[in-house]
Amino acid sequence: MAKNVGILAVDIYFPPTCVQQEALEEHDGASKGKYTIGLGQDCMVFCTEVEDVISMSLTVVSSLLEKYQIDPKSIGRLEVGSETVIDKSKSIKTFLMQIFEKHGNTDIEGVDSTNACYGGTAALFNCVNWVESSSWDGRYGLVVCTDSAVYAEGPARPTGGAAAIAMLIGPDAPIAFESKLRASHMSHVYDFYKPNLASEYPVVDGKLSQTCYLMALDSCYNQLSKKHENLEGKQFSISNADYFVFHSPYNKLVQKSFARLVFNDILKNPSLMGETAKERLAPFVTLSSEESYQSRDLEKVSQQVAKPLYDEKVQPSTLIPKQIGNTYTASLYAAFISLLHNKNSTLASKRVILFSYGSGLTSTMFSLQINEGQHPFSLSNIAKVLDIAAKLKSRHEFPPAKFVETLKLMEHRYGGKEFVTSKDISLLSPGTYYLTEVDSMYRRFYEQKFSKTAEYGAVANGH
Ligand SMILES: CC(C)(COP(=O)(O)OP(=O)(O)OC[C@H]1O[C@@H](n2cnc3c(N)ncnc32)[C@H](O)[C@@H]1OP(=O)(O)O)[C@@H](O)C(=O)NCCC(=O)NCCS
Repeated sequence: MAKNVGILAVDIYFPPTCVQQEALEEHDGASKGKYTIGLGQDCMVFCTEVEDVISMSLTVVSSLLEKYQIDPKSIGRLEVGSETVIDKSKSIKTFLMQIFEKHGNTDIEGVDSTNACYGGTAALFNCVNWVESSSWDGRYGLVVCTDSAVYAEGPARPTGGAAAIAMLIGPDAPIAFESKLRASHMSHVYDFYKPNLASEYPVVDGKLSQTCYLMALDSCYNQLSKKHENLEGKQFSISNADYFVFHSPYNKLVQKSFARLVFNDILKNPSLMGETAKERLAPFVTLSSEESYQSRDLEKVSQQVAKPLYDEKVQPSTLIPKQIGNTYTASLYAAFISLLHNKNSTLASKRVILFSYGSGLTSTMFSLQINEGQHPFSLSNIAKVLDIAAKLKSRHEFPPAKFVETLKLMEHRYGGKEFVTSKDISLLSPGTYYLTEVDSMYRRFYEQKFSKTAEYGAVANGH
């Protein structure tokens, strides 16, 4: 069996168009600080009419192959996670096949996985499990998480975002799965769903989704703790991991989530925490779990108690989600990439716990063991390829009115046919794919902005 299977290489793409949350607050008539402090968000990127989940995934896959010099023939499985439905039958994976077909590789397993923000994790597990299985043929797996998160006008709109992330999967990885240490919580709930197939927007019960997220988190953490006890002889606590990375619809929920883990540790074993933490949380340990989700005082006190540990173990993973917004299936991995960006030189030998949540609901907590790796699959090279600072810097700020106008146009175009886009690619970097046309048979046509280095061809139109 292949050993230390995990993520060998990773790349992220997000659109260059963004709106500042502070400007959006003012535009929406929200009280000052609601989106920036209340939700904890700085900025949000969004697709204009020339970009969508397919173009973003074409961009990120061709970029990963090129930057790590991966032969397209060496990919044996390609899995996509997305909840942005463009076609109810044809998978996004099949669009990506254009990159591989022209190199003579059509022998690639895998299709798309969908369940809200969890599809990327399902795709990732499929690839890791394949490499660990007897059907593995020795080639790489490739996972793509791609979403455009847009909401109707209202309180959820500032929690949007857009991105595509590609991860190369194989053995002897610098980011290896501790496959025995993972726990899931799955349940039937209507907290966020997309029953209206004529609209890209979800139906969302925002408050319920927060509670469901925290309940799923508790359940996964306690299951993981038990599994750890079976394996290692002691329960799992925060001190057993160096970093915690969360699915990040908005940063405030990440702060609340980590505080919840601290509270869970106190409930499990008060001796795990210092005297002050114990004293401050003592009034809450007798609450029923239902009461504990509703208690604003517990939420506030546990966040204060957790703050020093949050700064050490969570804050390094918050950069990209705060800057680009919720990217649904890509969100957890955008947070993980932030950690790679911020801490790559000291991450070797560290354990990272990730929590993936998709409304509806599906959730898993899992563990990654990090090592330095070998070029080109080394932590330092991954951070270099990601080039996060430059990517964030190259965003272009749109005024909120233009953002709203763009979303209106996209509403009109969603599910439509027989239109051509403006083909305005002035803001896109060389190598970026963009949508040019949807014809009378709903077939979508993409092109790639000219790039001096791109080897993987220009036109991707499916014919
Ligand atoms: C998250 C969501 C429910 C928030 O919308 P809302 O109900 O209008 O927002 P709230 O009134 O609760 O305000 C949000 C936060 O900002 C705080 N706030 C409000 N105005 C503020 C101000 N002027 N300054 C500072 N903070 C402020 C609130 O106190 C609240 O913080 P708290 O949760 O710590 O109490 C909404 O954006 C949503 O539905 N998003 C999509 C669903 C989602 O992302 N769910 C996550 C799970 S997947």
